[in-house]
Amino acid sequence: MIHLIGLSGSLRAGSFNTAVLKTIGERLPDGAELKLFDLAPVPMYNGDLDGDATPQSVVELKQAIGDADGLILASPEYNYSVPAVLKNAVDWASRPAFKSVLKGKPVGIVSASMGLTGGARAQQHWKSIMSGVLAEVVAMPEVLIPSAQNKVEDGRVTDETTLGFLDRFIETVLAEITRRSAGN
Ligand SMILES: Cc1cc2nc3c(=O)[nH]c(=O)nc-3n(C[C@H](O)[C@H](O)[C@H](O)COP(=O)(O)O)c2cc1C
Repeated sequence: MIHLIGLSGSLRAGSFNTAVLKTIGERLPDGAELKLFDLAPVPMYNGDLDGDATPQSVVELKQAIGDADGLILASPEYNYSVPAVLKNAVDWASRPAFKSVLKGKPVGIVSASMGLTGGARAQQHWKSIMSGVLAEVVAMPEVLIPSAQNKVEDGRVTDETTLGFLDRFIETVLAEITRRSAGN
C-alpha cells in the first residue's frame, strides 16, 4: 500500500485546493490511499517551541509526513507566492535542517487558483522551497488549475480536462514513489 498525505494551502471550507486533494484521494487506484492533514490547528512557527515544547499538532504533522510514502501539496497562490499556512507547516516540518522528515520525500505539487495563471508563480516558489528542504519534487506533469471556480462543484473537481490532468499526475507520482522505493 502506498500512503500519501495531502496538505492543502487553504483553510476555508469551500477551498478549491482542498477539493483537488479530495478528488485525487477518490481517484487513486487500488493499493494507494491519501489522507488529508488539517493544518488549522498548527500554530505559527516559534523556535522557542521547537524542541521539548513542540505543539501536539506539529508532532502529529511530522509523524504523518514521516510515515507517508509521499506528500501531495495543493496550494493557492497568494500575492504571487505561496500561502503562509502551508509554508508555516513546511517550516515546522523542515526542522532539524537537512535531516527532517521532508528529506528525500517525494512531493507532488498542484495549484488551483481563481486567476488565469493557475498558481504558476506559487508552484515555482514551491519548487525552490522544496529544494531547500531536500524534498524530491515530482517535476512533471505540472498541474495548474486556472479559473478553479468553474471547475469545482460541491467540493470535487468536475471538469473533465482537469480530471485527465489529475489522473496523469497521480499515475506519475505513484510510479515515481514505486521506482524510488525499489532503489532504481
Ligand atoms: C490573500 C490572497 C491573495 C491572492 N493572490 C492571488 C494571486 O497572487 N494569484 C492568483 O491567481 N490568485 C490569488 N488569489 C485568489 C485565489 O486564487 C483564490 O482565492 C482561490 O480560491 C484560493 O484558493 P482556495 O479556493 O483553495 O482557498 C488570492 C487570494 C487571497 C485570499
